[in-house]
Amino acid sequence: MATVRELLDGGIVRLRAAGSETARLDAELLLGSALDIDRTAVIAHTDANVGDGAAERFRTLLDRRARGEPVAYIRGVKEFRGLAFGVDSRALIPRPETERLVELAELEVVRRLVGAPRPFGSPKLRVIDVGAGSGAVVVTLAVLLRRRKMLDEVDLAASDVSDEALQLSRENAVAHAVGDRIAFETADLLPGGEARRWDVIAANLPYVRSDAVPSLPVAASFEPRIALDGGADGLALIKRLLDQLAGALADDGVALLEIGGDQESDLRALVAERLTGWSCEVERDLGGLPRVAVLRRAAG
Ligand SMILES: C[S@@+](CC[C@H](N)C(=O)[O-])C[C@H]1O[C@@H](n2cnc3c(N)ncnc32)[C@H](O)[C@@H]1O
Repeated sequence: MATVRELLDGGIVRLRAAGSETARLDAELLLGSALDIDRTAVIAHTDANVGDGAAERFRTLLDRRARGEPVAYIRGVKEFRGLAFGVDSRALIPRPETERLVELAELEVVRRLVGAPRPFGSPKLRVIDVGAGSGAVVVTLAVLLRRRKMLDEVDLAASDVSDEALQLSRENAVAHAVGDRIAFETADLLPGGEARRWDVIAANLPYVRSDAVPSLPVAASFEPRIALDGGADGLALIKRLLDQLAGALADDGVALLEIGGDQESDLRALVAERLTGWSCEVERDLGGLPRVAVLRRAAG
């Protein structure tokens, strides 16, 4: 029977040889999965013996990781903004950069609800997550607004062109007890075309250039291409969404669009060309990279 340390050491050597740059972390997480315990418990009990069944399960998980499958898909879970999201090949694994988009969306909702007194009977704020994927953005937003006791004042919606992804986002919403607070709709970008008006639109649409997709890390090849591929210049979906905004955004509404770290100037040029007079600020992520474009109509 092998100890935790022996299994980890062997796993780390195996994953390094397979090209993982995070071999130790991967091995600790995967051994935790095989033993059905937290990674911290793995690290705290390196002298413990591991049964043959769990050791065999660990080897199977290592095989998958060595073939390049992301740890999050193997474990079936990814942490986002402190919440656990179920993840699998139906949708993109939520990235930490996207937490900035959620933070800004929460701020925009809170500003509207507490910044100016809202007369009794005012309509609820209309907020949509376009390209919901696993539901990381809309579900986290719902949980944060529930903590602030503001959820009853907001109508939350989520759209995705992929039925499979939307099903996963529904499952995550149910897991976080907000399944009945979000309207999910399969749609190409904004549901209902320009007939509906939104106060806050948040979107993390695919923005990788088509020719750059094959050179992404191998783990990305396990994710749906439709979640990554942003067309020839990476901005094909974002351009189409920009063209919907004039009709779809409320007069004092805001659109929050996640972009790639090298897309700020292209995005600014597109906004200037397609949304004359609108303001475009670009917020940075924790790494200091341009990450979320904040678009509003010109004041007055
Ligand atoms: C980069 S992923 C983001 C997923 C999730 N919002 C997140 O941040 O983790 C982009 C999502 O947009 C969806 N998508 C792609 N084209 C779309 C379209 N035309 N209309 C709506 N959603 C689309 C994909 O299916 C995918 O779920």
